[in-house]
Amino acid sequence: MAPPSVLIIGGSGAVGRPLVQEFVNNKEKFGRIGVLSDARKVSKFSELPNQGVEVVVGSFLEAASYKGFDTVICVCGNATMKLQPGMIDAAIAGGVRHFYPTEFGSDLSYGTNGKIRYFRDKIITREHLRDRAKEFPGFSYTLVLTGAFTDWTASDFNQIDLKKHTARPYGVPEALVTVTALADVVKYTVQSVLLPLEENQQRRELRLGAETLTWKALMETLEEVQGVKYDTVWLDPRETEAKEEEARVKGDVEAEIMWSGIRLQATGVAHMEGPFDNARFSLKPETVKETFQRLHGKK
Ligand SMILES: NC(=O)c1ccc[n+]([C@@H]2O[C@H](COP(=O)([O-])OP(=O)(O)OC[C@H]3O[C@@H](n4cnc5c(N)ncnc54)[C@H](OP(=O)(O)O)[C@@H]3O)[C@@H](O)[C@H]2O)c1
Repeated sequence: MAPPSVLIIGGSGAVGRPLVQEFVNNKEKFGRIGVLSDARKVSKFSELPNQGVEVVVGSFLEAASYKGFDTVICVCGNATMKLQPGMIDAAIAGGVRHFYPTEFGSDLSYGTNGKIRYFRDKIITREHLRDRAKEFPGFSYTLVLTGAFTDWTASDFNQIDLKKHTARPYGVPEALVTVTALADVVKYTVQSVLLPLEENQQRRELRLGAETLTWKALMETLEEVQGVKYDTVWLDPRETEAKEEEARVKGDVEAEIMWSGIRLQATGVAHMEGPFDNARFSLKPETVKETFQRLHGKK
């Protein structure tokens, strides 16, 4: 069988950049590797052609942009997730046979996660993929579930100041969180493209978690790595609900999604249950301590 040809949407984003780089590191295993770019934004990808990556200039919503690629990986961000049904239809019309929607996070079917605003466009996209797979028997898709990125836990996102050693996360210390380092998320994703599907399989869910621990343990690991004690105050996540609602009423969709996202980590939403698929990959993921040492440890 010919090696897969992969087109990435969102290649300039926080996940997109390291993902493209991981494809470059493994380029001999793939046919074509491309990033899809709006004509006004090609300069963001100027270094890629020298690395063997094609910059495909075109619309995300037109079939012509997808010609010659069999797999699409979408890593678009909060503001553009809702455009994915249109991308999927254009991709199928252009001949794409496998689609990865922008998931890379929590288990959307866990607990009451399905009701969370942040996941709304991801759920609509899942439903769209399910419906298209029924219509097109040769079409399949992969959902990559990784829990929270370890890198994002100890960050501004959770109001953790790594220099002043203060933490104001919205949540509770006992909340469980499943984490995977972004560097491993991209390695798993690239390797997954080469994992064969089962016969007639159209929906594949990959559950990948490096570690599951409480937020208290996570903060203690950060303290151990940095050799300092944090001034930590656990904030009531209901405060973010009020801010999310305020943004919704104002019509500020980005702020609405952001406030919904801020309470995803220290409240148990990013906890995933097994069985996990890690053993299907040739990769030993970083532990939380290893990631914190790499990112925040003494140099
Ligand atoms: N589990 C976690 O802890 C965690 C953490 C972070 C992110 N994530 C997930 O990872 C995924 C990617 O997030 P991210 O943080 O990498 O996003 P991001 O940094 O905001 O990147 C978004 C990308 O989408 C592109 N884009 C903008 N407009 C577009 C359009 N109209 N059509 C297609 N693409 C467009 C952007 O291009 P331009 O730069 O040119 O606008 C950029 O490359 C999301 O699903 C997010 O939920 C998970």
